[in-house]
Amino acid sequence: MCGIAGYVGPRNSVEVVFDQLKRLEYRGYDSAGIAYLNGQDIKVLKRAGKLSVLGALLEEAPPESHLAIAHSRWATHGPPTDINAHPHFDQFEQISIIHNGIIENYLDLKEELVRDGHVFHSETDTEVAAHVIGQEYARGVPLEEAVRVGVKRLRGAYALVVISKNEREKIVATRNASPLVIGLGEAENYLASDIPALLPYTRQVVVLEEDLIAVLTQDGIRIFDGQGNDQSIEPIHIEWDIAAAQKGGYEHFMLKEIHEQPEVIAQCLAGRIDEKQRIRFEQIFSEHVWHEVDRVNIIACGTAYHAGLMGKYLFEKLLRLPTDVFHSSEFRYGDPVLSPKSLAIFISQSGETADSLAALRVCKERRIRTLGIVNVIGSSIARECDRTIFTQAGPEISVASTKAYVAQVLVLTMLALSVAQVKEMPGVRVTECVHALRSLRERAQEALTLEPQVIELAKQFFDAPLFFFLGRGVDAHVALEAALKMKEIAYIPTQESPAGEMKHGPLALVEPGVVAVFGAAEASVREKLVSNIREVQARGGTVLAVTTRDDAIVPQATDACLAVPGTGFEVLDALLTVIPLQLLAYHVARLKGCDIDMPRNLAKSVTVE
Ligand code: G6P
Repeated sequence: MCGIAGYVGPRNSVEVVFDQLKRLEYRGYDSAGIAYLNGQDIKVLKRAGKLSVLGALLEEAPPESHLAIAHSRWATHGPPTDINAHPHFDQFEQISIIHNGIIENYLDLKEELVRDGHVFHSETDTEVAAHVIGQEYARGVPLEEAVRVGVKRLRGAYALVVISKNEREKIVATRNASPLVIGLGEAENYLASDIPALLPYTRQVVVLEEDLIAVLTQDGIRIFDGQGNDQSIEPIHIEWDIAAAQKGGYEHFMLKEIHEQPEVIAQCLAGRIDEKQRIRFEQIFSEHVWHEVDRVNIIACGTAYHAGLMGKYLFEKLLRLPTDVFHSSEFRYGDPVLSPKSLAIFISQSGETADSLAALRVCKERRIRTLGIVNVIGSSIARECDRTIFTQAGPEISVASTKAYVAQVLVLTMLALSVAQVKEMPGVRVTECVHALRSLRERAQEALTLEPQVIELAKQFFDAPLFFFLGRGVDAHVALEAALKMKEIAYIPTQESPAGEMKHGPLALVEPGVVAVFGAAEASVREKLVSNIREVQARGGTVLAVTTRDDAIVPQATDACLAVPGTGFEVLDALLTVIPLQLLAYHVARLKGCDIDMPRNLAKSVTVE
């Protein structure tokens, strides 16, 4: 998500780490900062906004130092301000820290530390991590030991980098589910969250493994595990050019983002499920509001609208709460009938889509309660909604949205479950669903292993004149999103509808060469789906089904099948089926030679009407 840079050696370290940050700019960020050794102290410079703002600060007082760390932040806890930008100090200002990821238990830790007299300046989870490690350091141990012991108290995903004003020769780093790479130089060493930041300086790289701790000095590196046992260091030589490195070695950002989805699931859930299996959002309405809300209107555009349809499915199925989903562009001019007790939910990756923002303002004028489900902190929709839940998916660069959709549906699932908990809805298997959520990351990883099969299918289908995307129930909603991906990036016409509607018109388009993709996560209607599959096959169409591994009905009837692991919950099963469908669109588009990350006529953020 955010960017990390570090350097120790004879060069001007501040210049080096600033240059490294520039090489990570493509990832998106909203503030940046540097910490460097200056005389007997650590000097921190940090600013909200673009790197040029921080750069101007460096020009005013060009600092020289042999050791520096730097960070570009993409806000998750607290808005993008100077104070919330990293680095952060510990209570005693002995150490300075930068951090990528999310510390799940930071609120509990913060309460404990405040009781012990600690004073916090920012709203970030990172400052809490700084104080935890600082507490250990204050016992007089070496910095790496303070990190080793301190991180045992942290729960969540993190890459942490720490320097001390007392141990002026070293940078200490560790990670858990958030990447860190070390660059090896001659009498100098580098650190970064991503390989592109290292490539101008060195191609000898050590990828730090999970839960290991690294100590970088000018003369070398040491890596050890949580018990203090030294580990062997095995550098790899990176051949990639800078453009390939920015995409993490993937050919396109879209493919990288599809593969990031297991990680995104972990980030999205992080800190939101407590030990008692209760869902907790930081910023949400108080409980009585949920008893009062009589209707939900979900308003969004594009992929976010499709996530909204999944929300309707969840709210109606689990909560029996009447829910409508509107395209923002229709809502804003549609003179909608709005109950004063209703809740309007705005879903947006960018938080800046003009139609969604205008629709939000309609609701505000009508004094309707508003809730945002947004990816970009500090964006207009996030700021203007009464409450906002952040999807925590990290910056999405590809125009075709993938990981943001998965995170939006996850937030909607957690929201529905949390309301079911508040309202004590009978018959909702909340605890079981929470367990399924907890294992979703692994299931998503398994779904990605279907890629070789998907590539073979893409080779068969890439010149199809028309794709159908069909399903019943929740699968009908996934069908819309899968079709959108195929249209957007492969430029193949698609026809998407509930499978039962085929015979009322779309079936007339089926002929040999046409491919029909059926989603079959909704187990209760699989037999009905088979009838629809037969209707397509009888007219010469080829059928691909995407279903769960335990489905014994649908695969029997189809020409090809992709099976994802089941979770026991249809909405989560359906969410997993979207992964091979994203991959299918991607590989078809690739075979057709399309401009995948920047499809013709489309934009990532549509800020005009
Ligand atoms: C554009 C993008 C889509 C996105 C839609 C809504 O059309 O290309 O990927 O789904 O806008 O964007 P939002 O940022 O509001 O989710």
